[in-house]
Amino acid sequence: MRARGKLRLGVNIDHVATVRNARGSAYPEPLRAALLAQEAGADGITAHLREDRRHIRDADIEALATGLRVPLNFEMAATAEMQALALRHRPHAVCLVPEKREERTTEGGLDVAGDEARLCDYIAPLREAGCRVSMFIGHDPRQIEASARIGAAVVELHTGHYCDLHSEGRFAERDAELAGLRAGAVLAASLGLEVHAGHGLSFETVGPIAAFPQVMELNIGHFLIAEAIFVGLPAAIAEMRRLMDLSRAA
Ligand code: PXP
Repeated sequence: MRARGKLRLGVNIDHVATVRNARGSAYPEPLRAALLAQEAGADGITAHLREDRRHIRDADIEALATGLRVPLNFEMAATAEMQALALRHRPHAVCLVPEKREERTTEGGLDVAGDEARLCDYIAPLREAGCRVSMFIGHDPRQIEASARIGAAVVELHTGHYCDLHSEGRFAERDAELAGLRAGAVLAASLGLEVHAGHGLSFETVGPIAAFPQVMELNIGHFLIAEAIFVGLPAAIAEMRRLMDLSRAA
């Protein structure tokens, strides 16, 4: 198992772009939010350039790739178009996610085991370009083992189902899902993968995930941007950071 390090917080700023695009205006600017998040203690910024450009756009990625001090985690589908963009911008990290046009958000994990040979070839140039390649997957051991086999540096475990079960009050199922995530984190770390987690996390759900000693980074977006409406982005980030540290120390 890896040494217990400081748990990093990656702030996903996609939904700043969602608000901007709702009115077809130039504001709020994702880069401004990212710089504010950086000042407020974010350890990295995450942005997902979707195929349909529904929130983040190409110009946002350009601005983030050149304007940040902290690392950029570029989320994208494993398509030729996105690979070319990643090779142009060379972000610190590339997180491969499954993408379906009709979904509201990234609903499930990537099927690495079912697409192993293609993904192995797909990530090779990204690795050569120096990007840390991450696979956004569920905690199924087959997906974790396949991610290790293809040479990914990182797996990001999908916490969306755990968060949904929590908000629906299905606590026994939530705890079973949490146990699956915990086992997945242990397996991934034992295979030499760096473990990240994210999707749907909030003040209520972050604690148990932050407590996994193998998890090195959490990527959180929608809840932080929503909370920022009421308390501001720096205060929302500070509270998330506090809860993460509290849980980590316990
Ligand atoms: N991690 C990944 C790979 C994602 O696709 C997303 C959503 O874009 C997140 C984390 C953040 O999820 P949320 O916005 O629900 O916090």
